[in-house]
Amino acid sequence: MLAIDYSERIPNNVGLGEDKALQRALEHWQPSYLDWWNTMGPEGTRKSDIYLRTAVSASPQGWAHFDYVRMLDYRWGIFLSPREPSRRVNFGEHLGEPAWQEVPGEYRANLRRIIVTQGDTEPASVEQQRHLGLTAPSLYDLRNLFQVNVEEGRHLWAMVYLLNKFFGRDGREEAEALLQRRSGDENKPRILGAFNATTPDWLSFFMFTYFTDRDGKFQLCALAESGFDPLARTTRFMLTEEAHHMFVGESGVSRIIQRTCEVMNDLKTDDPDKLRAAGVIDLPTLQRYLNFHYSVTIDLFGADESSNAATFYNSGLKGRYKETKRQDDHQLRDHAYTVLATVDGRIIEKQVPMLNALNEVLRDDFIEDSVAGIGRWNRVIANANLPYRLCVPHKAFNRRIGALAGINVSPAGQLVSESVWRKHEQEWLPTSEDRAFVASLMGRVSEPGTFANWIVPPKHGVNGKPLEFQYVRFG
Ligand SMILES: [Fe+2]
Ligand SMILES: [Fe+2]
Repeated sequence: MLAIDYSERIPNNVGLGEDKALQRALEHWQPSYLDWWNTMGPEGTRKSDIYLRTAVSASPQGWAHFDYVRMLDYRWGIFLSPREPSRRVNFGEHLGEPAWQEVPGEYRANLRRIIVTQGDTEPASVEQQRHLGLTAPSLYDLRNLFQVNVEEGRHLWAMVYLLNKFFGRDGREEAEALLQRRSGDENKPRILGAFNATTPDWLSFFMFTYFTDRDGKFQLCALAESGFDPLARTTRFMLTEEAHHMFVGESGVSRIIQRTCEVMNDLKTDDPDKLRAAGVIDLPTLQRYLNFHYSVTIDLFGADESSNAATFYNSGLKGRYKETKRQDDHQLRDHAYTVLATVDGRIIEKQVPMLNALNEVLRDDFIEDSVAGIGRWNRVIANANLPYRLCVPHKAFNRRIGALAGINVSPAGQLVSESVWRKHEQEWLPTSEDRAFVASLMGRVSEPGTFANWIVPPKHGVNGKPLEFQYVRFG
């Protein structure tokens, strides 16, 4: 029997060949991963060649290689950003100590929980998106979907590397469990709410990659500040891939908006029925999808007041977005932050210790970043000389987590009664008719350079290739 050299089978820059125990652990995990990919990964791709980007190093000069690859032969590698020898713990009670290269014993359980929670989102989104390949609006989009999928798979590998390398037997058990939970499964669901919803159509996919992958960006940015250096280096490299996922979302929605605006101007109407009859997605429907994905995603940041968030920060495990660029004491003991609460039927602002509000701090950073892209979407509408504008709903709208859960708040931020909510819900969140209409537009477009009627082509192809390039060769 041939011994399989996993140090070559698994591209890596972590010296896998020299760490036999780790190599054995990953060698043991790999077949379970491939099983999972085969059963829960993208549907109907077994024999197709796809023009994909593969990470081949962590060098900023050229970490990616583009070529045709069968998804089953995709080489999921393990890459950490280069080590900075003088790196320190940059916040919390260990501020100024050298960054940890091993897991501090007292923080083991919390670190494992942070890594597992992040790791769980990666395969979840692959599961959520697994049917979308059957209805891609073009080969270009199909290729982007698969690119996102294989990279989410690689992000799972990144977290599984940390679990196997630093957490011994319970790390190995967690790595197995990551392959056993299933998005939306009643008995063994994924850990976080938004990762158990379905992503049934391409509008949902683009909204998901715009909003929910951006949650990923902010979580990864907070972990990239970690005093546990291997986690910081792992997540920093994941962020280079994440940027493309958000690009897919932002440009996807933008292209849908542009097509809708073209038809609005051609037909000189903003009547949703007429636009739907012309086969494009009316702007109010886009706004309802936006409201849904935005509100579900901001729940992912957790409760507005959280002693866990304070503990993770104090102990140097999870920092703030751009922690080291901020001009403060990086310990936050005497700082306050504003969160929302309800009193006597009104939403009020309330000051709480900042350490307990770090989930809210990260959520607000996310909101600022999200709003910027919506401004770019609105420019597409403005450039078409149309008056409609998209906007994010109020932070308290449709929340399920934290102090704002269980109340009824309109997108404009008015606390409303249950009956008012029920009367207007159909204007605020996607209805089953909306979803059925969007679903009715979905259908695979597989001619190179051709795009579905409800979306315009992108400005550029992938890696300098033309739009007519055969991004997927069906087998
Ligand atoms: Fe990811
Ligand atoms: Fe992502």
